[in-house]
Amino acid sequence: MLPLTIKTFTDTGCFAHLIGCRATGKALLVDPKLGKRASYLKTASDFGLRIVAVLDTHTHADHLSDSLAFLDAGVELDMSAATNCRRAHRGLHDGDELRIGELRFRALEVPGHTPDSIALAGHGLVVTGDTLLAGGLARADFRGSSPSTLFESVKAKLLTLPDETVVLPGHGYRDVLFTTIGHEKRTNPDLQHESGHHFGRALGAVEGAGNTPDVELMLQLNAAAQPQLPSTPMTVAACCAPGTSTALGPRPLERSCEEVARLREAIVADRCWIDVRDPHEYRESHIPGALSYPLSELGFHLEELRRAKPVLLQCRSGVRSMTAAKTLQYLGVLDEPINLAGGILRWQELKLPIEA
Ligand SMILES: [Fe+2]
Repeated sequence: MLPLTIKTFTDTGCFAHLIGCRATGKALLVDPKLGKRASYLKTASDFGLRIVAVLDTHTHADHLSDSLAFLDAGVELDMSAATNCRRAHRGLHDGDELRIGELRFRALEVPGHTPDSIALAGHGLVVTGDTLLAGGLARADFRGSSPSTLFESVKAKLLTLPDETVVLPGHGYRDVLFTTIGHEKRTNPDLQHESGHHFGRALGAVEGAGNTPDVELMLQLNAAAQPQLPSTPMTVAACCAPGTSTALGPRPLERSCEEVARLREAIVADRCWIDVRDPHEYRESHIPGALSYPLSELGFHLEELRRAKPVLLQCRSGVRSMTAAKTLQYLGVLDEPINLAGGILRWQELKLPIEA
């Protein structure tokens, strides 16, 4: 069993990650967003976890951090030692260890997107924030950004990790939840340049061009010790992932519950049925024969999935299982996954068999 448990929150487009130690129940929350605290706390409770530390991977330009509320609640804030953020925090230097219960992670300074970008590696994963994304690198046109430094940071600090390392990025560029170091090494177009200089020239980014007035305000609020934060989250047009998602090739196949129920014996015989909901959802009830592989932890089961029969993916309503299908297709793990449209909700509506 994995020593850790992971839950990635995707609902704002900027990802947050909850990483918990199974042995002690202590957890790290990475890049929390203002307005989402209730959801983080509820999820931590569902997973039997207690948030003991928050990591902001950099001073964010595209959303407001919720680090202040966690600090006020006595939770430690970790940031790069290079940050200008004036909130009380532990400043991480390259190579510093961050302990969460029995988990040990190593801080990696990865400047370029911002001067204070930091990654965290350990236990087969790396949290990359806005540096290495699935299929691209983050933007590098803010004040203090440097495309060549970003490229060199990623090459020297991240691509030297083992190929199977699971990458938890700060954005879902290309509709993908996670990736691996090996896959990005082989396929990421931004990393195919000869050097940081060549990447910078190809990108043509102008330093500071991304600092629109709303980005400036966001940066000021995120760096302030005691800012007056809005009661509802501000939206900002900017996003630290460049451009829009590139198409990922053919959309994974979907089958309705009616169709799957009709063909169930054939489908179960030919396919491995995977339920990607959270563990507590699976424990409450699941479709007989379905195996539990939570979406956020699929990256740790890629070899099993490669060896498995073709799969049918299912979640509550069909959204998370579609993300799983796209991610596994992007990684070349699954050729033709089938997504169960409507998920277990529709399955129950049709009064099809359920195991409590
Ligand atoms: Fe960013």
